[in-house]
Amino acid sequence: MKVVKTVEELRQLLSEEKSKGKTVGFVPTMGALHRGHLSLVQRCKKECGAAVVSIFVNPTQFNDKGDLARYPRTLAADVQLLQTAGCDVAFAPSEAEVYPEPDTRVFDFGPLDRVMEGAHRPGHFNGVAQVVSRLLDVVQPNYAYFGEKDFQQLAVVSEMVRRLGLPVEIVRCPIVREADGLALSSRNALLTPEQRAAAPLIAKTLFAAVDMVCSVDLAALKKLVADAINASEQLKLEYFEVVCARTLQPVASLDDDCAKQACIAVHAGKVRLIDNVRLT
Ligand code: PAF
Repeated sequence: MKVVKTVEELRQLLSEEKSKGKTVGFVPTMGALHRGHLSLVQRCKKECGAAVVSIFVNPTQFNDKGDLARYPRTLAADVQLLQTAGCDVAFAPSEAEVYPEPDTRVFDFGPLDRVMEGAHRPGHFNGVAQVVSRLLDVVQPNYAYFGEKDFQQLAVVSEMVRRLGLPVEIVRCPIVREADGLALSSRNALLTPEQRAAAPLIAKTLFAAVDMVCSVDLAALKKLVADAINASEQLKLEYFEVVCARTLQPVASLDDDCAKQACIAVHAGKVRLIDNVRLT
């Protein structure tokens, strides 16, 4: 595996790979890699001739500067893990490489980013679109792999690719969970032992919502979820929404005739955790 730090080096390396007729797969990450990321890398390597993984903590997608400062950075360990997962090229650029000039582009995703993460983290998806479009432009992959844990991010990135007409296929990959149900996230490393012990309640509550969906109405379901999460001293519900899986707009009723996704954001102290599950 090669580790490259500059756009020029990466372009050179990838043009050699592409001239050998290899398809290029790309997994963008912010590092602090876990089994969830590695499952994306392994799938990417299985499906593509060359697997490229970026490690870059993107400042423009953090609306909370404290969150950016706290975000775990573990480059040496990440590089080791990527080697074992079959990555061919790890791209770990500096901020100046990614943004030689400040990125002032403003993206429009329609109603997709006016709910949930978009509503609670103003500017977050604009920052995601800035970095993902920049990285896609540098890597020019055939396929780019994203995890369904960031369900809204997947919808926003797919919409961005569609609107810009980018020649890349976005590949959706399932959530990877700990044995106790907690969705894998780089932020899990920031949890105290008490918060970590409480955190599986998030997935447990989502799975309970799946079981209850035919027997309660939407208001009752929302109250049951809020009560279950807030009953833990370690957790505080930020939002629980049932949305149409395609448009991401909240449903008016659990009887709405669309595939429904239940999405949740919870605070464990200063750590913000998100998760989601298909309801129907
Ligand atoms: O999902 C993430 O880790 C980030 O939002 C991404 C896609 C790497 C962009 O910085």
